[in-house]
This record gives sequence, structure tokens and C-alpha cells, in this order.
Amino acid sequence: MKYDFDTVIDRRGTCSVKWDAVEERFKVKDILPMWVADMDFKSPPAVVTALKKTADCGIFGYTSVPASYYEAVIDWMKKRHGWQIQKEWLMLTTGVVPALRLLVKAFTQPGDQVIVQTPVYYPFSVAIKDNGCEILDNPLRLEGASYRMDLDDLERKITPKTKMIILCSPQNPISRVWTREELKDLGDICLRHNVLVVSDEIHSDIIYRGYKYVPFTTVSDDFIDKSIVCTAASKTFNLPGLHTSNIVIANPELRKQFTAVMRNCGMSSPNMFGIAATEAAYRDGEEWLEQLLDYLQGNVDFVTKFLAERIPGARLIQPQGTYLLWLDLRNCGIEAERLGTCVREEAKVATEAGTLFGCVENGFERMNIACPRSILAEGLRRIEEMVKSRR
Ligand SMILES: Cc1ncc(COP(=O)(O)O)c(C=O)c1O
Repeated sequence: MKYDFDTVIDRRGTCSVKWDAVEERFKVKDILPMWVADMDFKSPPAVVTALKKTADCGIFGYTSVPASYYEAVIDWMKKRHGWQIQKEWLMLTTGVVPALRLLVKAFTQPGDQVIVQTPVYYPFSVAIKDNGCEILDNPLRLEGASYRMDLDDLERKITPKTKMIILCSPQNPISRVWTREELKDLGDICLRHNVLVVSDEIHSDIIYRGYKYVPFTTVSDDFIDKSIVCTAASKTFNLPGLHTSNIVIANPELRKQFTAVMRNCGMSSPNMFGIAATEAAYRDGEEWLEQLLDYLQGNVDFVTKFLAERIPGARLIQPQGTYLLWLDLRNCGIEAERLGTCVREEAKVATEAGTLFGCVENGFERMNIACPRSILAEGLRRIEEMVKSRR
């Protein structure tokens, strides 16, 4: 491998939320952070070079978005995903979570219902509630080794007050990559009931062998005007601290409404470092990404083997995308209600409880595997020891 994902980089003392805030968050000393969704790897060298060049200028004034930025984003989406985006469809925000909040504000009224499919990234629900809307939960079903959408349940639950769905594609935390057919069936229901689809596709570049990410708006010509897709280079290239994302809105009327809400919230000028890094990553980061994907696949294989051989009863819901693994620890011989506490306080591994994502059943944990294999091995060894000591 040309790029090094094995070297452990000490992130402590770098203002890293994942490393520097973990003990405070879980109230456990020497806990190993496998929670916040960023990576313990350096970004591609081209990104670091672009950021240094930006810093060398020494003047950090208000920034406009250069044509070359749009070109880089458009080329990436076309080349990697066969998705043809027009420049005017792209709206920059300071992150996907801020965008989701603005989208709820722009396209719903207090009292409206917004659909989520739990287990799902929990800021979705917070954005909905904070804007005075009601959450309409359409839980995913775990069938055998994988999750599926329950579209009968969805259609039964939709009411005239249901105005939006926030879809997670690929889905964090259960790591499904939705197929074209699944997205088409979901989109058809939303079209029939006039429900706006907001598709959070921030994890779309982290896809494992044998799976294919399908941008929601490419599923059907009918969906282009009735959906909004949230994208960013931040998960792909480890840039979330630079707060730059690209929201794709093809429908000019929706764009106008969204722009008005953005202005109202004082969001106009982008971050010059975020612009430089995103452009460099999309332009020159593909080889690095290919090697990252190989490394992450290696980590997935490592976890699969480790659980099978050393933690009887534990199982990995095989990920199709994302570097966030969904561990099913219900049959490890530990009372499900106590399991999360045991993992965090006894094993001292900071995974996140499945219940945080709206999973009604105890015993699931989300583990971030975007780290050198030696750290991953240490996390798993700690869990193994804890499980053994409780048997
Ligand atoms: C599905 C999903 N959306 C959004 C985010 C965060 O986006 P941002 O950092 O751009 O606000 C995350 C981070 O984990 C995520 O998993």
C-alpha cells in the first residue's frame, strides 16, 4: 500500500472530540474511543498540501466559491457514481447536520410529521423535534442477517400531516447500502403522498466490495424535483472539522425556499479551508480512497473473524457501507440491559449504545472501525476479556 493506515497517530491534545472528550463523556478513565464518526487516519497528502497553501497566504478574509470547486464536485459525482449534477443545484452549507435543520425549517411547519427509519443517526430526530415537528418512526426490520425497510408500515402510518422523510443512505448505524429497487419503492410511496425526500448521503463513498451506492435522485426522473440530497467529502476524506458540505437541490422552487432560510440564519460565506480541502480531495484523492476502502474491508474481515473465534454469541451485522459497525451482542451471555455499561465501564471501550439510535432492543452497539488495526484489535481484546470474566 502506498498510503499508511497502520501507524497510530496520537490525537490526544489536538482538540479531538473523539479522543479528548471521551473520558468526560463516558466518565471512564483510559477508555478507548470507538464512537464519534471520524477517522484516526491522516487525510490524503493532496488535502494537506492544499490546506498549507491556503494557510501560507496568511490572509483569511471572506471567501467565494471558485468555479474549480464546483467542477471538482461535479466530476467526482459523475465519475464515482454516474450522477450528473448541474452547478446551480449545489448549495454549500457548514455541514450536513446544519443543512438538515435548515431543511426541516424550510419545508415543514410546526406540528407536521417527519419520517425517520430507526435505528438511525440520532441528530435526525433532534432536528425534527427542535423545529416543533413530530417524529413518525418507520422502524427498519432485522431479518436474519440484515435489515430491510418496512414499506407497508410506512404507507399505513403516513397522514396528511406527513411532509418529509429524512432518509439515511447508506444507513448509519446499521450500515445498509439501499438498492435501487428499495429506493424506488420508498420514493414511489413518498411521491404518492407528497412527502419530500431528504436523503442524507454523507457516507456514500464508503462502500464495501459487492455493493453499489445509488444516489436517490438518479433512481427515477420523477424523483429529481421531489428530493434533496445531502453530500460531503467529510466522511470520505476525514474532513468533518472543516465544516463544508454540498446540498443538491435540482428543483429551483425548493432552492429558492432553502436559500431564503439560509440567508435568514446568516449562512452565506463558506469556509476557505473547507473549500480548498474538498476540492483537493475530490480532484486528487481517489487513489487514497481506494486504498482506504481496502484497509477498511480488512478491518471488517478482522472483526468478523475475531468475533467468530473469540467472542461466542457475538455477531457482526455485515456492513455494506460506512466505517460504523453494528454489533449484535445479545447472545454473549450478559444481561442485555447491562451490556452497554459492561462494554464501556468494564471493558473500557467507547462504543455507542444501539438504543441511542432509536433501537428499542438492548444489546446492540455501534463501533467505529476507522482506526489502525492495532487499535481495533485492542478494542476487541478488551471486550473479549470482559465477556470471559462475566461467564
Ligand atoms: C448520517 C450522518 N449525517 C451527518 C453526519 C454529520 O454531518 P456533518 O458533520 O456534516 O454535520 C454524520 C456524522 O456521523 C452522519 O453519520
